[in-house]
Amino acid sequence: MKIVWKMFHHTPTTILLLLSVTLVGATSNMRRRMGESIAGECRTPYSKHENEVMREAFEKINLDKRQTTEIVFDVHFNVVAANITEAGGWVPDSQIERQFEMLREGFSGHGIFFQFGSTTRILSSNWHHNLNVPEDDILERMLINYGTLFRKGGATSLNINLILFGSDDETYGFGLPPSLYRAYPELDGIYVRFTSLPGGASRARQGSTAVHEAGHWLGLWHTFQDGCEGEGDGVADTPAEAGPASGCPIGRDSCPTLPGLDPVQNWMDYSAEGCRDSFTAGQVARMQAASRYRIDVLS
Ligand SMILES: *[C@@H]1O[C@H](CO)[C@@H](O)[C@H](O)[C@H]1NC(C)=O
Repeated sequence: MKIVWKMFHHTPTTILLLLSVTLVGATSNMRRRMGESIAGECRTPYSKHENEVMREAFEKINLDKRQTTEIVFDVHFNVVAANITEAGGWVPDSQIERQFEMLREGFSGHGIFFQFGSTTRILSSNWHHNLNVPEDDILERMLINYGTLFRKGGATSLNINLILFGSDDETYGFGLPPSLYRAYPELDGIYVRFTSLPGGASRARQGSTAVHEAGHWLGLWHTFQDGCEGEGDGVADTPAEAGPASGCPIGRDSCPTLPGLDPVQNWMDYSAEGCRDSFTAGQVARMQAASRYRIDVLS
């Protein structure tokens, strides 16, 4: 296995070196921002700075316009496979269709619509094995290089990148919040473990990861952000939660001195598949503001 990895690793290094000069500034910045993320299912980069940027941006969103203009995002699946077998990441169209339906249903009734855009299949053992959370310069440059080549559309195009996350078993995805769009337009989108689609090989996840990551793409943080202290997720109607839930512990109250039970059935927790199935009204309002920010400000 080691020899195989080295063989594939050799080629991109050459490409990446060419890009390194112009990307140095961006990389250290992103690394700092990624530093505050919580390990676990999802590695979406949280930082106080992003939180602040979004709070200020969302406050300026025109509420009247928010209610009268339809919010529609086009969705592009980018499948990064090592070979044309399902084990090698060549996710069947049937799984992509079911994932798209699950995404649509997850946001339906909330005034946020998705329309199918495209599926691109990228056959590259290197990208398949090595694309990952951008926690060092090489990975970040690799992702930027990948995004430059394969990302579709602008700030209102949701790119769903189906990748392996080969470096650990825990990570299932991450999503770029709208506040990072200007600094990292090539990375914008969500990154999802390819086995986690409905009908995929994962036992833990069957489609909910993509819905969760799309929530991040629309400006949501985890329900357990900041635990029982601090600003939390910036949404008033998601009760504070000490940490991520596992299983489906309905009735759990991990911040007993604060109001409300843990929102373990919320899409933005880590609860088991089938348990998380809802957004709160406060989250929907925030996502609508984030949507308008993508449509009116970033586009
Ligand atoms: C396809 O890629 C996967 C993952 O690297 C590997 O396990 C599998 O053996 C490959 N299959 C073929 C037919 O090359």
